[in-house]
Amino acid sequence: MLTIALTKGRILQETLPLLAKAGVEPLEDIHSSRKLIFPTTLDDVSLVVIRGTDVPTYVRYGAAQVGVVGKDILLEHGADGVYEPLDLGIARCRLMTAAPTGRIRSRGKLRVATKFVNVARDFYAEKGQQVELIKLYGAMELAPLMNLADEIVDIVDTGNTLRANGMEPLEIIADISSRIIVNKAAMRSHHAQVRHLIERLQSALDDRGQGQ
Ligand code: PRP
Repeated sequence: MLTIALTKGRILQETLPLLAKAGVEPLEDIHSSRKLIFPTTLDDVSLVVIRGTDVPTYVRYGAAQVGVVGKDILLEHGADGVYEPLDLGIARCRLMTAAPTGRIRSRGKLRVATKFVNVARDFYAEKGQQVELIKLYGAMELAPLMNLADEIVDIVDTGNTLRANGMEPLEIIADISSRIIVNKAAMRSHHAQVRHLIERLQSALDDRGQGQ
């Protein structure tokens, strides 16, 4: 059996059509179900739908052999024990710093709110900027408005959330898209299945690139 761990939310919406093109379709509608495990049109492939932060954990331990997860999660939580053989090019966005529009930057230690504390620590250290990192779990844009932080590190897609909250993007830390990850041991134990899946996904991507 090959289990693919999928990230729920926007990534899932963009993953399912690609998987379908690769011949893997859940036997029931994932969106209207409360189930977490889904058999598919391929007898030997099942899907599990979980939070992005949990995907590398399932794959690292081999509970799932394959995962679909955002590069932001891999950058923040590490990619130990997994290979990253394919960029699906979906759910594209940027990991950026942002601050209230027109903010005059004060000298000294910046307070930065983010859920990407490891990425942020490395980014500001590289710049030689002293920071106090404040870990949040969502709605980062609120932190500067409430005087909790001077700036944030967060995902920016359209920029609408920043604009709606009087903020502007500043620096790009990384371009983000969703990746296929594979458990290192499973790359050997499930070699044929994994290779087959990656090839079919690659040709689904190629077809899409040609506008088919
Ligand atoms: C992300 C991110 C921003 C927003 C950016 O949140 O944290 O809030 O999307 O998108 P935009 O640039 O198109 O406005 P998401 O909705 O994924 O929820 P989260 O807070 O759970 O990450």
